[in-house]
This record gives sequence, C-alpha cells and structure tokens, in this order.
Amino acid sequence: MIKEKTTSFSNLSKYGYLNLPVPNRKNIVDKIIELKKEKNATILAHYYQNKEIQDLADFLGDSLYLSQVASKVKSKMIVFAGVHFMAETAKIINPIKKVVLPDLKAGCSLADSCPPEDFKKFISKVKNPYVVTYINCSAEIKALSDIVCTSSNAEKVIASIPNNKNIIFAPDKNLGNYLIKKTGRKMILWNGSCIVHEAFSFEKILKLFKEYPNAKFIAHPESEPHILEIANFIGSTSALLKYVNESNSSTFIIATESGIIHQMRKKSPNKNFIPAPVNDEKCLCSECAFMKLNTLEKLYLCLKYELPEIKLSNHLINSAREPIKKMLSLT
Ligand code: 13P
Ligand code: SF4
Repeated sequence: MIKEKTTSFSNLSKYGYLNLPVPNRKNIVDKIIELKKEKNATILAHYYQNKEIQDLADFLGDSLYLSQVASKVKSKMIVFAGVHFMAETAKIINPIKKVVLPDLKAGCSLADSCPPEDFKKFISKVKNPYVVTYINCSAEIKALSDIVCTSSNAEKVIASIPNNKNIIFAPDKNLGNYLIKKTGRKMILWNGSCIVHEAFSFEKILKLFKEYPNAKFIAHPESEPHILEIANFIGSTSALLKYVNESNSSTFIIATESGIIHQMRKKSPNKNFIPAPVNDEKCLCSECAFMKLNTLEKLYLCLKYELPEIKLSNHLINSAREPIKKMLSLT
C-alpha cells in the first residue's frame, strides 16, 4: 500500500497546494464526502456552480438562502462553493467558523466594480444618505452600508427605508434601475454591472421567440433594462427556479448564469430549457468564469488542507455584520 505523504500547512504557499495530488474522477466524490465528515465541514454551494459540485452540496441555493444557512452552521468549517463575496459574507455572519473557498481567485465583476475609496467619496456627496448595497460587493463596501440586500429581498429592503432618506444603491445599476421601476422610490445608483448578465443579445433573444413562440422568457434582474423589458418573469435564481417548477409552460429561455439549468432540469425533467444567447458566439458568456473556477479537485484540496481561508480583521467583521444582520432580520 502506498502511504500518503503528509504535508505541513505552513509549507504550503498561497496557491502551492493546488498542485498537490488529487484522487481520480471516479473516486473524488467519495473522498470529498469522507473528508467532509472527518473535517466536520459543511459545503454550501450556489446554483451557478458546476453540476457535480451542486450535487455534492449540503446546502444549495441563492445568495440570501446561503447567507441564512451560513449564519446557523454548526460544523467547525464552512466550505463555500461560490464566489469570494459569498464566502466573505459567511465569515462575517459566523466569524467563529473557519470559512474556506476552493479558489481564492473566484471573484465577481460586480463586486470589483465598486472600489471602497471611490464609494466613500460617492457617499460623501449625498445629503442624508441611506446606503443600500447588493450583497455582491466586498466586506469593505458592506461596512459602509446601512443595509445589505439580495435579489430575493431587495424590494422588501427598499420598502423598509424611511421616505426622508436619499437612497444610494450600489453596485449594480441594472438591479438598481429595476428597483426604481418596481418600488417607485428615487435612488442614486452606482455605475456597476455584471459581465455575465450584460452579455445577453436582445436581437438573438427576439429570434428565439420566433422559433419558440410559446416559450417563456425569464431573466435575473442584473440583466440590462431592454432585456428585462421583454421578460415574462424577473427574479432571483431561486425565484426563477420556482417559476419554472410551477409554470404550465414547457419551454423556457433563461437569462441568467447557465448553472441554474441543472436544477431546473432536475426538478422539471420534461421541460425544455434554453440558455439565453449572448452577443459573442465564441464566448461561453452565460457562464460566470469566476463561479466556474471552483472544481471538484479544488474542493477536495480545500477540504484536505483547509485552504484558502477567508481572513478578515475583527474591525471589518464587526462593521460589515450590522447591515447584513439588518437584512436577515427583515427576511
Ligand atoms: P442570486 O442571489 O439571485 O442567487 O444571485 C447571485 C448572483 O451572483 C447573480 O449573478
Ligand atoms: Fe458576479 Fe455576475 Fe458572476 Fe454573479 S454572475 S458572481 S454577479 S460576475
């Protein structure tokens, strides 16, 4: 029997552990399940993850659900199969847990579009501001906020804000514009967006409507206004999933990251799901390249070596926690 070489954590460089041996594809799922028990870990995964990761997760859901679950996790470690801001949120709301993310480079274009120093200046120019931030932002941005929201609860969050306040909404201008329309509230918007949800092609979607005249077109509110304008239904990933399950229609064109289609097919195997086409034919743009950085191999290594870990200062955790807790108490 070949004895497995033990590796000391301190010898592992920031990404060095990614080159360490992993079980083959046939065994890796069983090994991950074994390791999860051994390490007393809980795997949380977002709907945009690869299907094999979705199938392994202890909890699978949208950003709101995953943050609710993260606040209550009892195990020693949270393995967050998602992107950096999601793992960071889990650390902020449950700071005594070790939180690891399979690939630390799994970022988010929306979160990156809002640098804290620029955002501070933006806020300082507004009188009597009330800062609402979409959960897709960094811990530093959350710390500058009055309340956080997700696409599942944004309308409820906006409705809770006193009328005399000037609402600043960041970082997603598309979700912001959608909320202005839905709630009738004025808002000052930060000019950020998601590369995945801005890639959908209006013309190609219209062409698909001709090909599938009975299809329902459903979209995530991070999509651009002219795309949302022609949608039969707009909602968070969990709302889109619910809509599809409950609808009598049999064909759906989906304008969000295509990972969600795995759950749609599982829950409604007889229905037909078409990812909304994107502008660039050569690009897999309806896949979030950040989300897809997580693989089974990285998940295995992450559990085995408990790396890379999300580390935040106590000061940042304390200041970013209040606006998240405010959101969680509302929903
Ligand atoms: P949901 O909260 O709807 O799952 O969205 C997360 C996200 O990153 C959308 O791009
Ligand atoms: Fe960020 Fe867009 Fe990826 Fe969602 S889909 S994680 S908003 S880059």
